[in-house]
Amino acid sequence: MKLRHLIEPTDFSITELEELFKLADLIIKNPLEYSFKCKGKILVTLFYEPSTRTRFSFEAAMLRLGGSVLGFSDPNSSSTTKGETLTDTIRIVSGYSDIVVIRHPVEGGPKAASLFSNVPIINAGDGGHQHPTQTLTDLYTIRAKFGRLDHLKIGICGDLKYGRTTHSLVNAMSRYPGNEFVFISPEELCMPENIKKALASDNKPGYHECRTIEEAISELDILYMTRIQRERFTDLNEYDRVKDSCILDTEKMKLAGENMIVLHPLPRVNEIHHDVDNDKRACYFLQAENGMYVRMALLMLLLDRTGSFYQNMASETAGFVISTEESEECTNPKCITKIEPPLKQRIKLYSDGRKICDYCGTHIESCCTYEE
Ligand code: NCD
Repeated sequence: MKLRHLIEPTDFSITELEELFKLADLIIKNPLEYSFKCKGKILVTLFYEPSTRTRFSFEAAMLRLGGSVLGFSDPNSSSTTKGETLTDTIRIVSGYSDIVVIRHPVEGGPKAASLFSNVPIINAGDGGHQHPTQTLTDLYTIRAKFGRLDHLKIGICGDLKYGRTTHSLVNAMSRYPGNEFVFISPEELCMPENIKKALASDNKPGYHECRTIEEAISELDILYMTRIQRERFTDLNEYDRVKDSCILDTEKMKLAGENMIVLHPLPRVNEIHHDVDNDKRACYFLQAENGMYVRMALLMLLLDRTGSFYQNMASETAGFVISTEESEECTNPKCITKIEPPLKQRIKLYSDGRKICDYCGTHIESCCTYEE
């Protein structure tokens, strides 16, 4: 049977997302009714990078559903230190478990894992690429606050270059009609060109860019703050130059509308002053709490192989073909194919000529295809 994985937000249709959110609503209303839904099931959590919210909320989710949890939060305690590849680890642990959650520093790691797994794989963050379960949490919180996911103006602020949560949020929210984005960041950390170009094409929602919170805050429904991702900088002097560039405080909150909400995937460093926590528009702790309930719903839906997520599955190759030519190589030095060379290249060829790495999402030859 073909498996369902969650590697990027668009792996689920809008209808499936709504089904997941409705299930999370029901779980929140009556959690005890769900306490045995995953009895006998085992979740494995492989965290090759630090985590507090994502790992604990997944583990709490499985325990609250009556299942069990195995895993590591420090790869140094696994055979990775002996040189074992991610794909070999997955072949082993997928034989011991029913579902696997992976956070990996290398872009495309969870996608590679999904090709070698006998059980569903959930991407809990891969390098600077994607973080789809954070996006489920973000969308669920937005839906709870506004009663809808369309016709919203979303300011995304901070590290838009390396912040995987921002990439997944744009991917997900751009599928709903009428949404508009404002990208607020220093020039060095602006949203990657590929993401902006995808927004500019296909009649997707519009965006504009600015450098300060003050320029945008009064027009926003949502201000999504993010941490500058220190661990992804190759030059720490550059980190020092940009680390304090966008900070939200109570003075700036005075410029915002009374129904605007502030979200943050957390952890924060200094980008939101602690005084803002007392403002009723600050929703980031609620957002973190929601994370456990949406992950409960996600585990239930991916584990139920006779359920709706396994019926009417869209073909994996809808809209594109995977190139099998060995000459097509991903150009991203941070792609999993560069770290685990036995992996076959998988370049998606679209009918409009775009070529995108199926692991890390890099647009191949984008300089020739897209630049003016
Ligand atoms: C984020 C992550 O790991 O990408 N945290 C999270 O999962 N809630 C954001 C971050 O680390 O800045």
